[in-house]
Amino acid sequence: MKLLVTGGAGFIGSNFIRHVLAARKDYALVNYDKLTYAGNLANLAEVAEDPNYTFIRGDICDAARVEAAMRGCDAVVHFAAESHGHAWMRCGGALRCGIACGPQYL
Ligand SMILES: NC(=O)c1ccc[n+]([C@@H]2O[C@H](COP(=O)([O-])OP(=O)(O)OC[C@H]3O[C@@H](n4cnc5c(N)ncnc54)[C@H](O)[C@@H]3O)[C@@H](O)[C@H]2O)c1
Repeated sequence: MKLLVTGGAGFIGSNFIRHVLAARKDYALVNYDKLTYAGNLANLAEVAEDPNYTFIRGDICDAARVEAAMRGCDAVVHFAAESHGHAWMRCGGALRCGIACGPQYL
């Protein structure tokens, strides 16, 4: 089973990735994350060299890049979001796209 995990460098996503890689040696995970202020690859330092783990820096609003990253994956686990507080309401298209458009591409 191969999973595309969006937002895997965030709080929940990184815990999910570490848990699955430890529990399931038959799973491969692709972490697709834009690395916003909330994304931190240090959360994944212990699995960075795991052969079943791949990191791709990208935005879920970039349909072509999402499609390329998704190639060969069986399922998507979607954690990427800019949903903290009210920041997404104050900002322009980019953040709203992360909430509204990105999931459509996925
Ligand atoms: N943390 C909680 O207690 C909690 C509770 C309920 C629901 N949730 C939801 O679960 C999801 C994940 O929560 P979290 O706490 O891990 O969030 P987080 O902010 O810690 O991580 C979000 C990750 O998504 C990435 N990201 C943001 N926008 C992106 C984009 N456009 N393209 C690609 N990557 C992008 C960030 O770089 C970051 O790594 C969110 O939708 C959140 O609303 C969280």
